[in-house]
Amino acid sequence: MPLDSAIHPALPTDHPLTTRDASRSTAESPLVTAYRGGTPSRTPVWFMRQAGRSLPEYRAVREGIGMLESCLKPELAAEITLQPVRRHDVDAAIFFSDIVIPLKLAGVDVDIVPGVGPVLGSAVRTAEDVAALPQLTDEALEPIREAVRLTVAELGSTPLIGFAGAPFTVAAYMVEGRPSRDHLGPRTMMHSDPEAWGALAAWAADAAGRFLRAQIEAGASAGQLFDSWAGSLSVADYVRHVQPHSARALGHVRDLARAHGVPLVHFGTGTSELLPAMRDAGASVMGVDYRLPLGEAHRRLAAAPGPDGRGAVPLQGNIDPALLAAPWDVLEAHVREVVEAGREAPGHVVNLGHGVPPTTDPDVLTRVVELVHSLRP
Ligand code: CP3
Repeated sequence: MPLDSAIHPALPTDHPLTTRDASRSTAESPLVTAYRGGTPSRTPVWFMRQAGRSLPEYRAVREGIGMLESCLKPELAAEITLQPVRRHDVDAAIFFSDIVIPLKLAGVDVDIVPGVGPVLGSAVRTAEDVAALPQLTDEALEPIREAVRLTVAELGSTPLIGFAGAPFTVAAYMVEGRPSRDHLGPRTMMHSDPEAWGALAAWAADAAGRFLRAQIEAGASAGQLFDSWAGSLSVADYVRHVQPHSARALGHVRDLARAHGVPLVHFGTGTSELLPAMRDAGASVMGVDYRLPLGEAHRRLAAAPGPDGRGAVPLQGNIDPALLAAPWDVLEAHVREVVEAGREAPGHVVNLGHGVPPTTDPDVLTRVVELVHSLRP
């Protein structure tokens, strides 16, 4: 068990999941209820990248401020996190930050280049490069905790979802030094230098775990691990070289999840073949991208129980982001299908099968939320 969790074994009594103050409690919220496999009072919905360029109010407050800089200004990060909740009446806020923020806070030379994505000053490719990485300290995470505290103070009984990038996705950026399509660098490294790969993935796991734990301790009611690029891996490589590290990242918050029922979601894209293996990394909910109907995702999980005996789990997903730009009747039929398919799973939180495209008309998102809320849970 990581040292951090030995020091803080439980959430404070004023945490939104544990508080007795009904105006601040998220324990009975539709999101947390559905994540836990119960029947929510309404069908919960939120969108990955709901805070972002689709919103004019986001573009206004980001004017002249770099992406990572804006994540590290607690008032601004809280404001951006709250914008889509005010506008769309979604059932959760997703913390405005980025998967490379833990690297930045550890002291790694990284930036997000507009239109490109995360770019590192120098790539991390050898055992020496990995050994030279600075460690992420708890003190460095203070701007994150402050932004979370400011956010939950405004959210009332709407839960905040914290998140982190999974070790493979984060390490893929570190090995390539920039975004890539096929992730050849990390996939070669795990075979040609498995020890250096293991050390890098463990570093990324610990950074992600600390980042996620800081958010949950400061007030987030759930956590999501994003393994956006895991879909480029074979099942064998995933199980051998990645899953143990994702389990290690989630291990940083395992005690909180057990003691307080903090829901943990695991999401990837192109991961239809990896769903059972990803579930076995230890999250309680699986995010499904738009490629696989939820009923089929449910059957695949149910048919392949893991070593802990868990098969089917609550699902999150999976409206195709492309259909946000389709005529309303086409989108409406698709949303109804997604909600219907989700009924097969032991719980369902409606989401997109990947992030909101920046070109999305925000009024369409508001309308999707209204439609989902009109359908019986
Ligand atoms: O609502 C939310 O989801 C907001 C929080 C959030 C962001 N990034 C904000 C962001 C989250 C959860 C992420 C995670 C993230 N970051 C992932 C995993 C999820 C996914 O999309 O697959 C990944 C792969 C990254 C890395 C990253 N950060 C990329 C590829 C980019 C896009 C670069 C570009 O300009 O095209 C970013 C930047 C980023 N992260 C933006 C936002 C809102 C856009 C920056 C801007 O508005 O200028």
